[in-house]
Amino acid sequence: MEIFRDPEIARRTLWEAKQSGRSIGLIPTMGALHEGHLSLVLSAQKQGDSTLVTLFVNPSQFGPNEDFSKYPRTEEADLQRLESIGTDWVLIPTSQQVYPEGYSTWIEPPQVATRWEGEIRPGHFRGVATVVLKLFLMAPADRAYFGQKDYQQVRVIEQMVRDLGYPIDVRVCDTIRELDGLAMSSRNRYLDPDQRQRALAIWRSILLVRSLASQGVIDTAVIQQQARASLLENGLDSIDYAVLADAVTLEPLRRIDRPAVYLVAGRLGNTRLIDNCLL
Ligand code: PAJ
Repeated sequence: MEIFRDPEIARRTLWEAKQSGRSIGLIPTMGALHEGHLSLVLSAQKQGDSTLVTLFVNPSQFGPNEDFSKYPRTEEADLQRLESIGTDWVLIPTSQQVYPEGYSTWIEPPQVATRWEGEIRPGHFRGVATVVLKLFLMAPADRAYFGQKDYQQVRVIEQMVRDLGYPIDVRVCDTIRELDGLAMSSRNRYLDPDQRQRALAIWRSILLVRSLASQGVIDTAVIQQQARASLLENGLDSIDYAVLADAVTLEPLRRIDRPAVYLVAGRLGNTRLIDNCLL
């Protein structure tokens, strides 16, 4: 496994690999890797020749009162895990390389970024869209892999790629869960044992929403009310949102009369968790 700390060398290496006919999958991450991240690498390996993972805790997607400074940084363990599954390349840029002195160019994210996470984390998707485009430029790949876990992020990136006509194929991979249903997340390590137990309310709410929808309940107000009750019952300390939205536009839905997504976010102490399921 080759580790690049200079984006210029990564770019050159990838161009040469492309020239020789290899197809490349890019997996952008912020490190603190778990099975969810590794599943993206495994998908990329199945679908192409070579894989490049980026490790970069992107300062511009964190708000002033968010967890940027205490976000877990576990580079050595990350590299071991990536090596053990046969990753070809890892790019670890510095903040200085991504945002050099005087940096002032930003992607204005698309409409799908407005609600939900966009409302609660102002500027978050501007930072995500900008860094993802920069990573695409540093690591010119054929395909880029993202997790459904961050559903709104996927929609923002898909829309950006489409609007800009950027030549990359965005692939979305299933959410990987712990055995009891909790979606894997780098932030799960912040939970104490009691919070870890109560975090399961998110999974219970997903099962409930799926079950109501499959029984033919289409009134989203009814479903959302029950979902909120189940999230708070021996569960979250507070709910940021628990809604049914159009799976493409992410606009709120009154009735489930088209592909829909249940989007949920809430807090346990200082930890924010998000999850979703398609209906
Ligand atoms: P990060 O939270 O490290 O996630 C990197 C990728 O792993 C994202 O595409 C995310 O959706 C995916 N992922 C996280 N948990 C997952 C799970 N349980 N199952 C499947 N995939 C999962 O998302 C980011 O970093 C950043 O915003 C980034 C795109 C790297 C830009 O900075």
